[in-house]
Parts: sequence; structure tokens; C-alpha cells
Amino acid sequence: MEADLRAWFARYGRDLPWRRTRDPYAILVSEVMLQQTQVERVVPRYLRWLARWPTAQALADASTADVIREWQGLGYNRRAVNLKRAAEVVASRGWPDDLTELPGVGPYTAAALANFAFGRAVLPVDTNVRRVQERTGAEFGPAAAQALMDLGATICLARIPHCGACPLAARCPSRGARFEPLRRQSRFEGSFRQRRAHTLRLVAERPHSTSELDAEVVEALAKDGLVSVGGSVVTLGSG
Ligand code: ADE
Repeated sequence: MEADLRAWFARYGRDLPWRRTRDPYAILVSEVMLQQTQVERVVPRYLRWLARWPTAQALADASTADVIREWQGLGYNRRAVNLKRAAEVVASRGWPDDLTELPGVGPYTAAALANFAFGRAVLPVDTNVRRVQERTGAEFGPAAAQALMDLGATICLARIPHCGACPLAARCPSRGARFEPLRRQSRFEGSFRQRRAHTLRLVAERPHSTSELDAEVVEALAKDGLVSVGGSVVTLGSG
């Protein structure tokens, strides 16, 4: 199946800017952005980020407040703080052998970096890749990673896969199947995230007094290093 997949990818694979580099810092930026944000929304933000901070050293030297502001709109803002902390580690000590030592880098992101930047033979398995593996029952090697991601994102969709356009359909045991929608985010998670985003936007504009803000949300943001509280004033960044 892997040969069919590769032939499909050569023709239909997406030309994404992080696929034109092997720079580990650029790939880290892309993978952290892609953790919870869609490809189309990431592309312009990735390009702008690298234009502003082209190296790990440049990001390490930036202020946390500027980094959080540049991240606005991508969601899950603690990723921005972790990315800056990771850049600080890399700028001072270089890339660790175990990439999960970097803040915000879990097993998936570490595997993606290892493969795309360092050429190591590991397959990063995200939700798209896992779905293709499970539906086809096939084994794919590390060289198929980007192709699997594209197949999962454009053809082998979660609910209604486009089997008619799939290079693997002829040998796929799940061909033609339909799937239940994924569990949706709970109302509580949704509302607390909204409150966090709203409060962070206020503080990103200018420092605010604690009395003007939602105390529970400020505490959560401070714990993640997104804001700091000095006396009764809340400012952006970790102080
Ligand atoms: N999602 C996560 N990593 C990706 C990549 N390198 N290309 C496309 N989508 C992705």
C-alpha cells in the first residue's frame, strides 16, 4: 500500500512551507502551531513568525509579551510560552537527544521533529495518521509520514471519507464505511477557554487591575506563564 500512497503523494501532496526546510527550529514552530490549529490558518502565521524570529536565538531574545501577542488568534496560547521556553533551551544548550525534554514537546511533536528535521526513522502518529493506519490495517514506514498526513487531511476524513479518490481504496477493508462524529468539546471546556482568551486579549492591550478581571481565569493564565500578577496589576508575560 505504501507504494500507492507515495505515488499519490508525489502528484497530490500539498506544497506546505515547512516541507521546504529541514531547519529544526522552523519545523518546531510549524509542528507546535499545527498541534491544535488547521493547516490553512497556520501557513500565513508560520511565515510571519519566521520573518519576525528566524532563529531559536531570536525567539529566545524576544519578550514573552511580544511572543504571546504574535500568537493571538492561533488559540491555546500556552503553546506560545512553551515555544519560547523551548527556544531558550535550544539557544543555550542546543537540541537535546530526547526532544521531549523541550517544553511543549510531547511524543508526537518529538517524532515529527526527529523525522522531518533530523531524518530519524520514526513515524509521527497524529490523529490523521492513526485513522489511516486503523482503517487500512496497513503498516507504513517513516518515509510515508507526510503522505499519511495529507491522505488523512484531504481524503480519509474522520466522518465521510472520499474513498472514490483514495489511492488505497482497492485494498482497504474500510472502503465505503461511514463513521460517527467525534465527541465534541464540552460546554464547560468551551466557555472556560473563551473566558481565558477574552481576558488574555484585554491584558495584551494594556495592563489591567485584578478588580477588572475574572480572578479564576487570571489564576489559570498566571499558572501557564501567560500573565503575571504584581500587587493588583496584571501584565502580559511572566514578568
Ligand atoms: N500536521 C502536523 N504536522 C503536519 C505536517 N508536517 N504537515 C501537514 N499537517 C501536519
